Amino acid sequence: MKKIIAANWKMSGSKDFIKKYFNYFEKNIKNTSRNNIIIFPSYPHLAEVNSYKKINKSFELGAQHCHHNNEVAQTSCVSAAMLNDIGCNFVLVGHSEWRSLNNEDNLSKILESVINNNMTPIFCIGENYSQKENSKTQSVIDNQLQNILDNKILFENCKIIIAYEPVWAIGTGTIPDINIIEFIHSYIKSKLAQKLSSAQEKDIIVLYGGSVSTKNIKEIFSAKSVDGVLIGGASLNVEEFTKICNEKL
Ligand code: PGA
Repeated sequence: MKKIIAANWKMSGSKDFIKKYFNYFEKNIKNTSRNNIIIFPSYPHLAEVNSYKKINKSFELGAQHCHHNNEVAQTSCVSAAMLNDIGCNFVLVGHSEWRSLNNEDNLSKILESVINNNMTPIFCIGENYSQKENSKTQSVIDNQLQNILDNKILFENCKIIIAYEPVWAIGTGTIPDINIIEFIHSYIKSKLAQKLSSAQEKDIIVLYGGSVSTKNIKEIFSAKSVDGVLIGGASLNVEEFTKICNEKL
């Protein structure tokens, strides 16, 4: 099965960067081994990246966040409807860098808004270093998944992708032991499966994120419960990102 390979550009990029990036990417990406690729630029660059998507059709477009409602009087905010209007199909929801600066109370509403506007949310969860050290990983994941487990609309739709991103692994060059990744992914899937029919169960997708690179991609993909990856730093290096996308699975 094809894996999802998602590039989270965070607060990085420029028009010049984008031009060079897609010049290289389109020449070097192999049609035969193409995985499901999603690029998440920052808001100002969504339209620019979308223009390359329209020509090349080799990737999908996603946004890094959106507001939880569509009311007009929200200066500085961007709604899910607007993102869908300019060509996004995916939205990251609850990335740990966003969580560290914002109130998390509305995550469930953001997820609903993304789904109601015909896009797929990628819901980011994961423990920080002290939670890991205190053996709290599973209880942190339980709490974070509660946003989904309590919400009937989300479950009826079942078009949610989970990204397990241990906060301590993001941008550090360190990843959990592969057996831990396999265990946590299976744990997440089993939690969600409790609320789903057996037909829906096979649609659960769990990505791994945190220091993914060409050095560890083979090992990460060797875990059978890993359905794809969410890549930050390494996705900004187009040669490295293209190599990961061309990885034979
Ligand atoms: P990283 O970031 O690959 O640079 O660790 C991943 C992320 O924050 O999604």
